Amino acid sequence: MTIRWSAETLWEQVEPLLPGFTVEILPQIDSTNTELMRRARAGQLEPALLVAEHQTAGRGRLGRDWQSGLVKDEALAGLTFSLGLVLKPADWSGLSLAVGLSVVQSLHPDLLLKWPNDVWLGERKLAGILIETASVGDVRYAVIGIGINLLARDATGLRTPPAALAELVPDIDAPAALSAVLLPLVHAILRFETHGFAQLREPFHTRDLLYGRVVTCTDGTIGQARGVDAGGALLVHTSHGLQKISSAEVSVRPSSMSDGSAAE
Ligand code: BTN
Repeated sequence: MTIRWSAETLWEQVEPLLPGFTVEILPQIDSTNTELMRRARAGQLEPALLVAEHQTAGRGRLGRDWQSGLVKDEALAGLTFSLGLVLKPADWSGLSLAVGLSVVQSLHPDLLLKWPNDVWLGERKLAGILIETASVGDVRYAVIGIGINLLARDATGLRTPPAALAELVPDIDAPAALSAVLLPLVHAILRFETHGFAQLREPFHTRDLLYGRVVTCTDGTIGQARGVDAGGALLVHTSHGLQKISSAEVSVRPSSMSDGSAAE
């Protein structure tokens, strides 16, 4: 199977913004996030895009797996890639929301964000984002990993039923999805580095799946979601007043979903 990636075009678009940028497309690796984190810890801090056609140990948030890249005929069922770069924002809070917002804005007007950065179509999950950082010397290298379902996939073992981008954009393939997402993502990250999250609060609310819905959080908080604050924390109106959920360890679900059978 040969997939025609536009690596050179992507490099030409991004290198002026991120000097020293490299693009690498691998047929298979354990996880693009794991690999860029390994490289960063070994001192490789250049900005890099790593795309995998198949991940053998893809990872999600909260220690979960991310399974995708299943090959269907001649196409990839999913796009999996990580972007690594040194970032020096004054405040890191809200980076994951800024990334999620950029992804939904690039892909389709119907896509929404489930705090902090899951991409959902209706009540189903279409894409996930895993951001990790490595401190090396006095700098911090951020690895922004994104997995997007492109074609319908088997829901077995998933807590949340999956959606696929092809439902919205019928002829989409992995190279086209990457081309749509990458450059706006780089711009969004650089804007975040300079300006932080506060300016993105209102745009986030226009894509907020949870806004106004009753939510249940794994830290026990139950209440009505009221959007996010200037640092990207989820605001939940509870019987004890307005609570802020900012921990990346907390998972949040809209209450209308059946809790027992869903996963990310
Ligand atoms: C989540 O939904 O919990 C986050 C999923 C993130 C998956 C992407 S796929 C590319 C990158 N490599 C990984 O191992 N994970 C991220």
